[in-house]
Formats: sequence, C-alpha cells, structure tokens
Amino acid sequence: MIMSQSISRWATLVVLLCLGFTHAHTVITYPGYRGNNLHTNGTVQDTNGLGVAYDAQNKSLVYPYGMEWIYPCGGMPTSTNRTKWPVKGGAIAIQPGWFPGHETALIYINIGLGEVPENMSHNVVQPFQISGPSNEPYPGTFCLPQVPLPANLSVSPGDFATIQVVEAAQHGAALFNCVDIEFADVHDPNITKITEDNCFNSSDISFQYMFTTSSIGSGAAMLQPPRHSILALIPLVLAAGFGALM
Ligand SMILES: *[C@@H]1O[C@H](CO)[C@@H](O)[C@H](O)[C@H]1NC(C)=O
Ligand SMILES: *[C@@H]1O[C@H](CO)[C@@H](O)[C@H](O)[C@H]1NC(C)=O
Ligand SMILES: *[C@@H]1O[C@H](CO)[C@@H](O)[C@H](O)[C@H]1NC(C)=O
Ligand SMILES: *[C@@H]1O[C@H](CO)[C@@H](O)[C@H](O)[C@H]1NC(C)=O
Ligand SMILES: *[C@@H]1O[C@H](CO)[C@@H](O)[C@H](O)[C@H]1NC(C)=O
Ligand SMILES: *[C@@H]1O[C@H](CO)[C@@H](O)[C@H](O)[C@H]1NC(C)=O
Ligand SMILES: *[C@@H]1O[C@H](CO)[C@@H](O)[C@H](O)[C@H]1NC(C)=O
Repeated sequence: MIMSQSISRWATLVVLLCLGFTHAHTVITYPGYRGNNLHTNGTVQDTNGLGVAYDAQNKSLVYPYGMEWIYPCGGMPTSTNRTKWPVKGGAIAIQPGWFPGHETALIYINIGLGEVPENMSHNVVQPFQISGPSNEPYPGTFCLPQVPLPANLSVSPGDFATIQVVEAAQHGAALFNCVDIEFADVHDPNITKITEDNCFNSSDISFQYMFTTSSIGSGAAMLQPPRHSILALIPLVLAAGFGALM
C-alpha cells in the first residue's frame, strides 16, 4: 500500500518533470504555497492508523498517509515568507492532479485572517467540482484570475491572512494546502503579475458548480461541457511518460 503510493507519487513527479512543469512540487502555483508537502513517511502500523504521530525512535513526526491530508494546511506550519496578494482579491492557480482518485474533485477556497488564523471559515468562492482526465495522477493547472474577498470582510494593505485550498477526492478525503499572504495595494509592484504562464486553464480540466450557476470570481461560463476528445489523449501521454522511465 505505502509502496504503491510512493511509487505512484514518484512516477507523477517524474511525469510532471518530463512534461516540463516549472513548479514541479507545487499544488498552489499562484500566489505560492507554504512549502513542499508532497511527502509520505512512516507506516500505518507505526502510527496505529493515525494520519500523523510522533515516532519516538526517529524523534520526528511521521505521516503514513501523506502530509497533505492533515487539516488545516497539509502538515505545514505558518510560514514567514509571505507573498503579497491584492486587498481586493486576486488570482489563485492550482495543480489538482497530484494524487490518485481525483478524476473528479470538489474544490473549496477559504481565507483565514491574521498572522496565525484561528479558523479558515471565510469561504471566498462557491465550492465547485473539477473533472480531470484520469483517476491516476495527472498534470494540469487551473486558475481563477480574480477570486474576490467576501463583501463583509474588510482588509487593508499590510494585513496578514492565509489562503486555504481544500480538494476533496471521490471518497471524501480532503487534501489541504495553504499560502500565507500579506494584503497589498492593488498597484503594489511586488505583487507577482498575472501572466499566461502563471495563470491558465489546462484544456483537460473542466468545471461544474455543485449548488449554483452563479459565476466564480469574475470569470463567467463555469458550466462547460467536459472535453472528451482532449481527455482521451492525456492517459496516452501519461502512459508514455511512465513507460519511458519505469
Ligand atoms: C516559502 O518557503 C518555502 C521553503 O523554502 C518554499 O518552498 C515556498 O515556495 C515559499 N513560499 C513562498 C510563497 O515564497
Ligand atoms: C525510523 O527509524 C528506524 C530505525 O532506525 C528505521 O528503520 C525507520 O525506517 C525510520 N522511519 C522512517 C519513517 O524513516
Ligand atoms: C517525516 O516527514 C516529516 C515531514 O517532512 C519530517 O519532518 C520528519 O522528519 C520525517 N520523519 C522521518 C522519520 O523521516
Ligand atoms: C473565525 O475567526 C474570525 C477571526 O479571524 C472570527 O471573527 C470568527 O468569529 C471566527 N469564526 C468562527 C466560526 O470561529
Ligand atoms: C459574511 O457573509 C457570509 C455570506 O455572505 C456569511 O456566511 C458570514 O457569516 C458573514 N460573516 C460575517 C463575519 O458577518
Ligand atoms: C518591494 O520589494 C522591495 C524588495 O524587497 C522593497 O525594497 C520595496 O520596498 C517593496 N515595495 C513595496 C511597495 O512594498
Ligand atoms: C478558468 O476557468 C474558470 C471556469 O470556467 C474561469 O472562471 C477562469 O476565468 C478560467 N481561467 C482563465 C485564466 O481563463
């Protein structure tokens, strides 16, 4: 079980690297992330089935199911390298296909206020569903160019917050990732500019709303039909990648 998990993760890494991914270990590609939490160690026997436990022998924590499943930020503590994000909201780009079981996934994007947020209870977009090409790990990115802040949330340049991205797989297990931000004036030159390279939608990922047909962020037209002709090609690309390297 652990063996096959780590092999498939390793294989994903290799495939993504082969496909020329510039942010090879990143789940939130814009505006950034707390750090690489694509990491699994220890065994479920070591932890007696817990997702995280202290391993006395090695004097460290072990995560036999993977760090990214630990609430609220995938096993990563608050970071000190905050990235600037506009006070009026901004872009969020995500690579959702790192783990098996995400042919469809529910995405939640929340924000927690303060340096070390007490909760991540401020929902910034309606939860939505994505459809990817495969239940095996797959490459690909999607980006919401203008995720707004909730109308009743008032923030100023210099305020700290954490953006949390939750991805629930088909069986309900949720993968957590965060980025620590500092709100900045919309014209602040230190906000990383949004470009076609850091904010784009891969053609093999499509979207459905769960509960509503209102638009996500400023982008309309969320209800796109899945693009099966393109979907069909991706497993071949993956298979070629695996075949060449295993
Ligand atoms: C913060 O630092 C970690 C560890 O060096 C790095 O992996 C991550 O990309 C950095 N995040 C940002 C937003 O700069
Ligand atoms: C913990 O230490 C033991 C003994 O040195 C080793 O066999 C085991 O692989 C270590 N666990 C991890 C997760 O590295
Ligand atoms: C397990 O992984 C965590 C997170 O990367 C790390 O802090 C810890 O030292 C590792 N433990 C062992 C025994 O390798
Ligand atoms: C979440 O934290 C905020 C402070 O950032 C607080 O105002 C709010 O009441 C908290 N909400 C819940 C549900 O705990
Ligand atoms: C902000 O508005 C949302 C819905 O628009 C609501 O669920 C939430 O409780 C409100 N929060 C506060 C602090 O008023
Ligand atoms: C942008 O970053 C540079 C280098 O860290 C810093 O010197 C400058 O003051 C920053 N500008 C603003 C508007 O914060
Ligand atoms: C990606 O697709 C979503 C959903 O259709 C849309 O809201 C968003 O604007 C698109 N992103 C880009 C960069 O076009």
